[in-house]
Amino acid sequence: MPKYGLEFDLVESNRQIAQLGDFLRSNVGLYDHTRHFEWVETTCLPAITTDKRRALAWWEHGQMVGDAVLKPLDVGLVELKNFRVANHAEQRGLGGLMMKHAFLETQDLLAEKGLLDERGENITLQLDTTEGGVAQAFFEHVGFDVVETSDLYTPGKAEVIMQRQISLH
Ligand SMILES: CC(C)(COP(=O)(O)OP(=O)(O)OC[C@H]1O[C@@H](n2cnc3c(N)ncnc32)[C@H](O)[C@@H]1OP(=O)(O)O)[C@@H](O)C(=O)NCCC(=O)NCCS
Repeated sequence: MPKYGLEFDLVESNRQIAQLGDFLRSNVGLYDHTRHFEWVETTCLPAITTDKRRALAWWEHGQMVGDAVLKPLDVGLVELKNFRVANHAEQRGLGGLMMKHAFLETQDLLAEKGLLDERGENITLQLDTTEGGVAQAFFEHVGFDVVETSDLYTPGKAEVIMQRQISLH
């Protein structure tokens, strides 16, 4: 990807996991900081270390500029968590490119975990994001539809649950 001098990799080594931790902690977005930090330390990073979740990351000149975390939920169903582009790297096509990588890795992850259906055709990526936030508009732009609205994290503060079918054939 010479246009951006980008590197893409799965987050697997201790060094990469530590970099991801720093990236997640410094890109909190709209969420409650204390709860976000706790989620990073006690849920997200341990699940990546034990391969219950798979993290993807993008680097530019050695600096992490984007991440996505994939969590297998069921046969043909993966949750996309913490999809984020660093503020200084937004609106250059990185989010769109990252999403295409995430589609490919979703299929690989389901295959590896024995969670593809017989024909390997029905693959759904699901996510949740703040209702009416800029990220919702981006996810709609790249093909996700709202399937439910719920106050998942904070009473009275709605999140939308969005899904998109992935077809790689
Ligand atoms: C939303 C986000 C991922 C977009 O990433 P980005 O790198 O700026 O997006 P891109 O430049 O790749 O844009 C890709 C396409 O989406 C469109 N797009 C980008 N942001 C958009 C938005 N907020 N609303 C609608 N469309 C949007 C672009 O116009 C572009 O369209 P095109 O392919 O037709 O030209 C990024 O801004 C981000 O990480 N925001 C904060 C993180 C966040 O809230 N994440 C949700 C956690 S669940």
